Amino acid sequence: MNPIVVPGPDALAETAARWTAELMRAAADARGACYLALAGGDTPRACYERLSQSPFGTSLPWSKVHIFWSDERRVPLTHPESNYGMARSALLSRVPVPFAQVHPMPAQDPDARRAAEGYARLIEQVVPKDGGELPRFDLILLGLGEDGHTASLFPGDDALSEQRALVRPVQAARPPPGRLTITLPLINAARAVLFLVQGARKRSALDAVLRQNPAVPAGLVRPTAGELHFIVDREALPET
Ligand code: 6PG
Repeated sequence: MNPIVVPGPDALAETAARWTAELMRAAADARGACYLALAGGDTPRACYERLSQSPFGTSLPWSKVHIFWSDERRVPLTHPESNYGMARSALLSRVPVPFAQVHPMPAQDPDARRAAEGYARLIEQVVPKDGGELPRFDLILLGLGEDGHTASLFPGDDALSEQRALVRPVQAARPPPGRLTITLPLINAARAVLFLVQGARKRSALDAVLRQNPAVPAGLVRPTAGELHFIVDREALPET
């Protein structure tokens, strides 16, 4: 796999925003809607902020966009660790996406399994299957942890081998521990998956993922009939 390599964080935000905007426009033009799952963590924040600005921002077909999350920490949506909260402040509060088309994970439901099952049902109701077995996102954005995790699919977690549920509760080894995550079958059903990776500390994990090493969770992301893309900064690129 050939990642798109950019010089640093600013270029990563610009390139990722442009890439995402183009995919959103193409999906809306082709099928009248765009179904997007946002990544959490810190890396995508600058991309979301850039996506809210000209020439993207309000020029994008937001009335046709449906926003979900790849994972969420089970904290209040206003908590600084909330992936919804980050995306809301960086992007969703700045663009005219219809409120009814923004679907935060039910992070505050005290019953984690009920929360996961409910979100899976919501995805099944909203995201078309296009003749396949599973709901098919137009784009799933993902980050990459130093240990090779992605979304909240961590090494050794039995959620990695989940073949039926679309969303699973997990206990992460890093704070906040309580998480909800989409699973590999749903990720691999997407039309496109885009990893955003920056920084030297991700080098080893990125090397494993680019080699599709199954020992790391992100190495198991292999869209069945979709595209897999990486936008990485030079610091994160494995040394050749
Ligand atoms: C999360 C993310 C997680 C993240 C990686 C990378 O909720 O934390 O979904 O998978 O993408 O941990 O995080 P950074 O971008 O902060 O390095």
